[in-house]
Amino acid sequence: MTELVVPDVRWHGSWAAAMPEFGDGYPHGSGLADDTPTYDEAGCAAYAAWLRAAVGTPIREDWVPCSFYWMADGDEIVGFLALRHSLSDWLLEEGGHIGFSVRPARRREGHAGQALALALPRAADLGLDRVLLTCDEDNDGSRLTIERNGGVYEDSRNGKRRYWIATG
Ligand SMILES: CC(C)(COP(=O)(O)OP(=O)(O)OC[C@H]1O[C@@H](n2cnc3c(N)ncnc32)[C@H](O)[C@@H]1OP(=O)(O)O)[C@@H](O)C(=O)NCCC(=O)NCCS
Repeated sequence: MTELVVPDVRWHGSWAAAMPEFGDGYPHGSGLADDTPTYDEAGCAAYAAWLRAAVGTPIREDWVPCSFYWMADGDEIVGFLALRHSLSDWLLEEGGHIGFSVRPARRREGHAGQALALALPRAADLGLDRVLLTCDEDNDGSRLTIERNGGVYEDSRNGKRRYWIATG
C-alpha cells in the first residue's frame, strides 16, 4: 500500500538505494537541485531537513513553498512527490502543482496513481480547489496516472500536456 511520508532520516536505507536507480535521470518531485546529496546517513538527514523546510520558505529563490513527500510501501521508499503551494509563471506553463516519480524497480505497481490520489486531499487542505499537472506529450505513464485521477486536459504548451484535477 502506498503512503506519503514526510522526508526523514529514518528512511535512510531505502532512500539511499532508490536515488542512484535514477542514474542521470531527474527524479521528478524529489526536490533534487544543483547539489546532489551524499547517500550516507548524514547526507540523508541534511537533505530531508532541507526538504521539510520548503513547506514554509522556498528553498530556492525561484521556487514556491512546497510540501515534499516520499512515497513509501511498508519500510521501502518507492518514489517522490512534490506538492507546490502555488504556481509561478513557469509552473503555470509547464511545471504544475504536483510532480512525482517512482523508482525504476518499483514501477507499474500502482504507486504513482495511489500517491497522486493521496496528494489531492492534501492540496485541498492547502486551499487549492484544483491542481495543475503536466506531462511530456510522449510520457504515457504520467499521462495515464493523471487521467486516471480525473485530470481534465486543457492544452499543450511547449511539449507539455496540461491537466487540471479538482481536489474536492
Ligand atoms: C510516470 C511514473 C511516475 C509512473 O509511475 P508508476 O508507479 O509506474 O505508475 P502506476 O503503476 O501508478 O500506473 C498508472 C497508470 O499508468 C500506466 N503506466 C505506467 N507506466 C506506463 C508506461 N511506461 N507506459 C504505459 N502506461 C504506463 C499504468 O498501466 C496505469 O494505468 P492503468 O490504471 O490503466 O493500469 C513513472 O514511470 C516514473 O517515475 N517515470 C519517470 C518520472 C516521470 O515521468 N514523472 C512524471 C512527470 S511529473
